[in-house]
Amino acid sequence: MDKIRNTLAENLGGPFTKLGTSHFELDQCPDLSGKVAVVTGGSQGIGFGVAYTLLKHNIGKLYILSVSKDVIEGAKKVIAKELGQDKADRIRWMQCDLSDWRRTKEVAEAIKQDTDRIDILVNNSGRGIMTAQLTDYGVDRHMAVNHMGHVVLTGYLLPLLKKTAEQGNIVRISNQSSNAHYGAPSDTKFATLDEINRDSGPNGQYGRSKLAGLLYTRYFDRNITKKGHPNLLMNATHPGFVSTKQSTQDIHEPYPIAGYAMSYGMEPLKKSQFEGAVPTVYAATVTKNSGEWICAPATPETASELAQSDELMENLMELTRNVVSEKTGGEAVVSM
Ligand SMILES: NC(=O)c1ccc[n+]([C@@H]2O[C@H](COP(=O)([O-])OP(=O)(O)OC[C@H]3O[C@@H](n4cnc5c(N)ncnc54)[C@H](OP(=O)(O)O)[C@@H]3O)[C@@H](O)[C@H]2O)c1
Repeated sequence: MDKIRNTLAENLGGPFTKLGTSHFELDQCPDLSGKVAVVTGGSQGIGFGVAYTLLKHNIGKLYILSVSKDVIEGAKKVIAKELGQDKADRIRWMQCDLSDWRRTKEVAEAIKQDTDRIDILVNNSGRGIMTAQLTDYGVDRHMAVNHMGHVVLTGYLLPLLKKTAEQGNIVRISNQSSNAHYGAPSDTKFATLDEINRDSGPNGQYGRSKLAGLLYTRYFDRNITKKGHPNLLMNATHPGFVSTKQSTQDIHEPYPIAGYAMSYGMEPLKKSQFEGAVPTVYAATVTKNSGEWICAPATPETASELAQSDELMENLMELTRNVVSEKTGGEAVVSM
């Protein structure tokens, strides 16, 4: 019975959010005065729900990384109107396509020049359920944005994340995954670039990139948190089925007609962007644990068998290191 209630609470919005065995609401986000956060994709959708909540709870400075200037301008206007100009002025927007790893490194270096601490890193940006596409340098775009770009970003921010943690603060990194990771191809090994460039269909492409986020979370926990950095936590989240651009517009790219089932048919059951932000805000401001997969609202769950494979975890991170280094001619590297 608890399993059914948790599944409904994890995935659906409105009254369903209250059915789960764990409880967490955005109002329980602690006061964040003096703290600094970095949120990728904080301009719209779930990331905006997270950014809005951090600002509402007085975060001192908030770096938002995203692509579209128009979207962030709109987001800042909403923040200024609803939370006040002072809160909007705490946002530092950095234009950053996470598939461009040289740019991602540059942005991370600029952030480190601009702040002497980072308490929260939310790796949330994502390419949704869409057709397979290669970047111009020949890497599957889902993996390049959703996984590799975030590994590059985290790696270059790591010295400052560690320093902040060593000064007695709990530093939290939250990676946006999804229960769609169950859709990763069952023969996934993360053994070669050819393998991840193979077209596995929209759900397979997306699911594989979300599986990568879960494996990275365990890798980081094992190699950083548990090896001398107990105050530097990394968790992954599942936000549920959320009404955002991904689930209302992007879904029509692979499924022009069938996509209506998700974009309109499911709309009344979806979570709002604020309901979808709940597990991330929990993981980014409250949890004392690391290496978990936290489903909405704040329930640690066991992820898929593939997500628990140490072999896949090691393969993925070796492949990530090699691909980033090779495709940028060594100008960007994965550092841990
Ligand atoms: N919606 C759901 O039901 C659902 C379920 C499970 C997991 N998720 C995950 O939740 C996260 C947020 O998705 P969402 O549903 O809120 O989607 P969304 O409203 O489409 O927002 C996506 C965000 O990612 C940014 N972004 C996209 N491509 C990028 C790139 N190449 N480089 C940097 N930033 C990029 C976008 O920036 P711009 O504003 O500049 O375009 C936007 O801020 C994603 O990781 C998604 O996979 C969503």
